[in-house]
Amino acid sequence: MDIFLIDGPVRLSGSVTINGSKNASLPIMASAILAGGKSILRGVPDLSDITVCGQLLEQLGCKVVKEPTGELSIDSTVVDNPFGDYEILRKMRAGICILGPLLARCGRAEVSMPGGCAIGDRPVNLHINGLRQLGARIHLKSGYIIAEAPNGLTGKEIFMGGPFGSTVLGTANVLAAATLARGRTVIESAACEPEIVDLANCLNKMGAKISGIGSPRLTIDGVSGLEPVEYEVIADRIEAGTFMVAAAITAGELKLTNCRLRHMMAVADRLRHIGVKVEQDNGGCVVSATGPPRTADITTQPYPGFPTDLQAQFMALLSLADGNSVIIEKVFPDRFMHVAELNRMAANLRKEGPAVIVAGVKKLIAAPVMASDLRASAALVLAAMAAEGTTIINRVYHIDRGYEKIEQRLNPLGASISRQSV
Ligand code: EPZ
Repeated sequence: MDIFLIDGPVRLSGSVTINGSKNASLPIMASAILAGGKSILRGVPDLSDITVCGQLLEQLGCKVVKEPTGELSIDSTVVDNPFGDYEILRKMRAGICILGPLLARCGRAEVSMPGGCAIGDRPVNLHINGLRQLGARIHLKSGYIIAEAPNGLTGKEIFMGGPFGSTVLGTANVLAAATLARGRTVIESAACEPEIVDLANCLNKMGAKISGIGSPRLTIDGVSGLEPVEYEVIADRIEAGTFMVAAAITAGELKLTNCRLRHMMAVADRLRHIGVKVEQDNGGCVVSATGPPRTADITTQPYPGFPTDLQAQFMALLSLADGNSVIIEKVFPDRFMHVAELNRMAANLRKEGPAVIVAGVKKLIAAPVMASDLRASAALVLAAMAAEGTTIINRVYHIDRGYEKIEQRLNPLGASISRQSV
């Protein structure tokens, strides 16, 4: 198992290119199932979650190849085993996004219920309800979702909102399935995240008829078949946000290329509010800070609100603010595993239900800490770069799930991170 040793404090400066989006790539990879033939995806990042998703597709019968050019090819000519194994789904919850495409392509799917995870309950009731409304018969057996639609799916008006708003992967599943359903489907309260826009654009390039893309009301006119596609995924707005916080927390200056600021307006708004400069720069942006941040209140929400996937990173940043900030988590109310670890580094954080009161401290101090999930571990890396001393982060495999060789990208900018196998 790998650990990170991170020396701080450092000041970052330089330029970094943002990779393709993990969370756009995963449902797009799954949607390749819908068309028999070879699809080519560009910009798919080299991450363990992507590798696991490739293994899942191979179990279904697809051939998945990382080409020497960096493209990912998925040949879905054969999909003869519509089975999503628990051994894979327990590692990567996003594997659930094969459910809709498999059902549409094969008329049947047997996919493990994903387990809970460190960020809280991860129910899939909205996925199941949506697919049921398209006519699928679905029951649960021994931890598996057994879904059947031997005569195909039929379009319908579906409301997909839940207690915490829209669902990203639930929308992806129902949207993908509806492309091949008979007639018209309307998804009301669809997720509007850029990753869903990217999936819809990709599906349309495959021959689907989706309109209302980017709005909470998606209209899908079913077609009889889809074609394989060549497609480039969007830049990763969460990776970009993490590098923005890296610039801010180290009072540094970073130029981010391949970063769409228009996908990050809530994030740029909060950064500017706390005194960080964020300026548009051809196809990217420049982020700079000169001192400790001012305080800010943050509430996570579905897009275009502030993303839950950057909540932990902003908590690390605000822990150094001059005063009190409040962070409210409205998407995953239990997503606070990083609170205790940041407190080990001398932050002053107090959890109150789905909120954390962040009392700013003058400095963070290095300590041994434990990465608990992907974004929580990113927050620890950020805190460690600002903290005095050498922080040891255990279980860095969590960060490898979503950030490609993070130490190799931060070190040239001025960080001092070494990876060791223990
Ligand atoms: C996606 O997860 C992302 N994962 C998550 O990123 C991200 O945190 C999340 O969206 C919210 O933006 C991928 O794209 C692979 P949801 P998803 O369904 O789709 C509730 C990361 O760090 N809900 O939008 O699984 C749910 O409990 C990951 O990269 C139901 O009630 O999230 C939550 O409160 C972690 N019933 C809210 O909806 C359901 O059937 C939003 O969850 C489904 C969800």
